[in-house]
Amino acid sequence: MINFKNIKKEFPILKTKVNGKDLVYLDNAATTQKPKSVINKITEVYENYNANVHRGIYSLSEKSTEMYENTRENIVKFINAKSIKEIVFTRNCTESINLVANSWAKNLCMPGDEIIVSILEHHSNLVPWQEVSKVKGAKLIYVPLLKSGELDMDFFINSFSDRTKLVCVTGMSNVLGIKTDLKRIIKSAHQNNVKVLVDAAQLAGHSIIDVQDLDADFLAFSSHKMLGPTGVGVLYAKEEILEEMYPYIFGGDMIRSVDKENSVYADLPTRFEAGTPNFADIIAFDEALKFLNDIGLENIEKYERNLFLYAKSKLEKMKNLELYIPENHEICGGIISFNVLGVHAHDVASILDQEGICIRAGMLCAQPLVKDFLKENAVARISFYLYNDEEDVEKLVTGLEKVTRIFE
Ligand SMILES: Cc1ncc(COP(=O)(O)O)c(C=O)c1O
Repeated sequence: MINFKNIKKEFPILKTKVNGKDLVYLDNAATTQKPKSVINKITEVYENYNANVHRGIYSLSEKSTEMYENTRENIVKFINAKSIKEIVFTRNCTESINLVANSWAKNLCMPGDEIIVSILEHHSNLVPWQEVSKVKGAKLIYVPLLKSGELDMDFFINSFSDRTKLVCVTGMSNVLGIKTDLKRIIKSAHQNNVKVLVDAAQLAGHSIIDVQDLDADFLAFSSHKMLGPTGVGVLYAKEEILEEMYPYIFGGDMIRSVDKENSVYADLPTRFEAGTPNFADIIAFDEALKFLNDIGLENIEKYERNLFLYAKSKLEKMKNLELYIPENHEICGGIISFNVLGVHAHDVASILDQEGICIRAGMLCAQPLVKDFLKENAVARISFYLYNDEEDVEKLVTGLEKVTRIFE
């Protein structure tokens, strides 16, 4: 049995007071807090072996290169990729998706081609595809959501044509917490000879990801949303697809040889990692992977699910809340969006802040979903991680009671 109570102690920031109150951090879908081991690792790099990677023929650089590549090897294991050639480091999930848009989709799409997205998507998995569509004259097709919270699979399956080039879908909605049926989506796409990009920003570090079992073609995520440092993203892509892709950022490190007129590019995955990478944070990201592996993703998923159920039961008892929880909440992870009736979500967030409680409010970078599906201009959102507990939920409820009193 994992003692989740002890986990809180590993996160120095959780001892902080905000506006004189104990910090209750419920904005994990935006970014997560960092355990001591990750913070210490960043210091360790700069104090002991800070030297650029892949360049120096001296011990310090060899050490930082080894540590940097060690993180890549552990990411291979974390998502069950086949080899390090399939793991490209980027700055964040957004950049990983843009890499696919620029290096793969823009070279492949022709006027009249189609890209399927879902209405659940975060702007990061939407705007790059709008841009590809604009530049290449392709068309975006939106898969709607059923009342149950599931994507409309009949619509999805009927959307395929011989012009469909790509499906882009989130593994978990950052607004509704819905986990999509990735296996089914990918299987039907492949039956239609269409590749699939999975936005795993909210899934990685919360659920087990097995890219071989999913048979995903591309999968993108950010380190900062799974206990790791900011400025580190990952793009997984099948080796044979990466081999076909043409880089879109050029310069040092991504080349094998350079003449006055032409260059030969490096092997995978370095070809897609031009310039000095964020090696210190990438090295520290390995500590986040270790932390998550030690607890076990199955345990984390179960724990967050229980916290979701606890929060749902408490919030449902409050009369003045509109909860955006789908009918089939079995498919939800630890995210709940809501509104306090008659109160703007920004006011809710500001009053909770006075109580030391951090939540997100607004469009949550998912305007089509919030405006067209929820028919709202803003929502409030709580999102859990492994260091949250029932006490955090109780403090939230007390904070929301205060919001109601102020606006009564
Ligand atoms: C579902 C989803 N996709 C993509 C992103 C973008 O992540 P990043 O800002 O780290 O690139 C987010 C961030 O909130 C997200 O929730």
